[in-house]
Amino acid sequence: MTTAKTYKTVKVEREEGITWVILNRPEKRNAMNPQLHYDMLDVIVELETDDETRVLVLTGAGDSWCAGQDLREFFRALDDKPAERRRAGWASQEWRWRRLFTFPKPTIAMVNGYCFGGAFTPLIACDFAVAAEDAIFGLSEINWGIFPGGLVSRVLADAMCYRDAVYYILTGDPFDGKKAAEMKLVNFAVPRAKLREETIKLAKKLMEKNPQTLRAAKEVYKLCRTMDYAQAEDYMAAKGTALRATDPEKGREEGTKQFLDEKKYRPGLGAYQRRAK
Ligand code: COA
Repeated sequence: MTTAKTYKTVKVEREEGITWVILNRPEKRNAMNPQLHYDMLDVIVELETDDETRVLVLTGAGDSWCAGQDLREFFRALDDKPAERRRAGWASQEWRWRRLFTFPKPTIAMVNGYCFGGAFTPLIACDFAVAAEDAIFGLSEINWGIFPGGLVSRVLADAMCYRDAVYYILTGDPFDGKKAAEMKLVNFAVPRAKLREETIKLAKKLMEKNPQTLRAAKEVYKLCRTMDYAQAEDYMAAKGTALRATDPEKGREEGTKQFLDEKKYRPGLGAYQRRAK
């Protein structure tokens, strides 16, 4: 099913709980121009509260995932338009990092081809990344006279080891999906023909879990990383209380009942049987 709303640069398709958000400028290898940033911001805000969306997959039309910022329309065309640059820059950071990083449902970057420069921000913001083995990644900024800016250099520090990050920032060498998996920049890489199928498999596994707990689990892990120990301890205690109070399917009670009283499953080996899906 396709959403009723249409966008100039993004396609949104819904199918059995998975919402496919497809960057859609294949003729420009899905480079991000200001319009794409505005479209994506609207898409993400809409999907945050869309009941049909249980897992979001971010991918690209054609053979490219995303060729980074649009050098013509995002950079050169806005050089002498400070107001527009600020607006587009804000939208760009807002969807690629702030909203995507803590999107209330699980997110998967399905990297079907080129992934360059500014595309690393949404890549790393997503909870999971799955790549085609022959997808090409690159921190190409050095090759055209800049460094990985926006938030790229910062988010790299979360997702790549120090040696690898500095190597690729300074050389700009491209690397493939297999290498990305070896470095754990993506969870795994598969032959391109299996990419969609493997992504769906991961999405289905996530849809078996309690959505409220999934949301809390990702928020707790992602936000605690930059807290000190006292803040993290307090935040987690408060979040645990909030989760118990607001979880509509009372997962904690249900899980313990099924394990301790009904002896129906082993929490160490799988999820409890959800009644209210
Ligand atoms: N910004 C603006 N336009 C881009 C773009 C970008 N980041 N990436 C690709 N395009 C455009 C090209 O200018 C070209 O437009 P045209 O048909 O109007 O001339 C079109 O997309 C196709 O690109 P082309 O280079 O012919 O395709 P390719 O398949 O041979 O190569 C790439 C694809 C992605 C390897 C190559 O386009 C590239 O190196 N792009 C820049 C990537 C980059 O450094 N991004 C970092 C930005 S932060």
